[in-house]
Amino acid sequence: MGKMRKPLIAGNWKMNGSIGLAADLLQAMQPGLEESSVEVVICPPFSLLQSMGECFRETSVSLGAQNVHPQISGAYTGETSAAMLNEMEVKWCIVGHSERRAQFAETDALVRQKVGTLLQHGIQPIVCVGESLEEREAGKHESVVVEQLKNGLSGLAADDQLRCTIAYEPVWAIGTGKTATSQQANSMHLTIRRELAELATEQVASEIRILYGGSVNAANAAELLEQSEIDGALVGGASLKTDQFPGIIAASNV
Ligand code: PGA
Repeated sequence: MGKMRKPLIAGNWKMNGSIGLAADLLQAMQPGLEESSVEVVICPPFSLLQSMGECFRETSVSLGAQNVHPQISGAYTGETSAAMLNEMEVKWCIVGHSERRAQFAETDALVRQKVGTLLQHGIQPIVCVGESLEEREAGKHESVVVEQLKNGLSGLAADDQLRCTIAYEPVWAIGTGKTATSQQANSMHLTIRRELAELATEQVASEIRILYGGSVNAANAAELLEQSEIDGALVGGASLKTDQFPGIIAASNV
């Protein structure tokens, strides 16, 4: 049986990229976008959101941010609010990326606050979860991911949960060239879906999209995306490459 969920390919540019790259990438993606049934999102740094919004205006590519502050305004030097993202027509926002958890002390509680703010502003959260190598080797990977998931979505109504996308990104696979095997990834996605059935409803569990992230490229995307529980990818390094990202989009065209 084919998957009912529409594939989503999101590019996380991290602290990279330029408006020139946006134009080049758009040109490289365009032929594939026209006949594709895939949703494509690019998450550039804040400084590029405005100009990339203009660049992508007539296209099917949507814009995402990489972070948001839970408050609407105030004395939060260096931060950006969801209301500001609304002004730039940002439709998506990554929350709880492992780099933010590790480098900027982003806790599950903060992730949950950010998810709430985004939903109130009509922005769809991409909630990242994932275990470290140590945690996997200690056999704790499932419990770590389930905990992050529970805390990140706690107390949300089912229709709000449905507006979230989950990204499973094992920390040891990010930027390392070492992807999880398709079986490892699919098995964790299944665990997440089972947990959502408990935590939320069967409908949420079967309809929510779960992306895989961690060293996805044009060569390994098809095998990952073919898996029954993998609905798309959150792509870092390869989303900056005009000879890689279009191939990942093509691989998710089922
Ligand atoms: P990567 O990054 O594709 O470069 O491994 C993925 C991510 O951090 O979202």
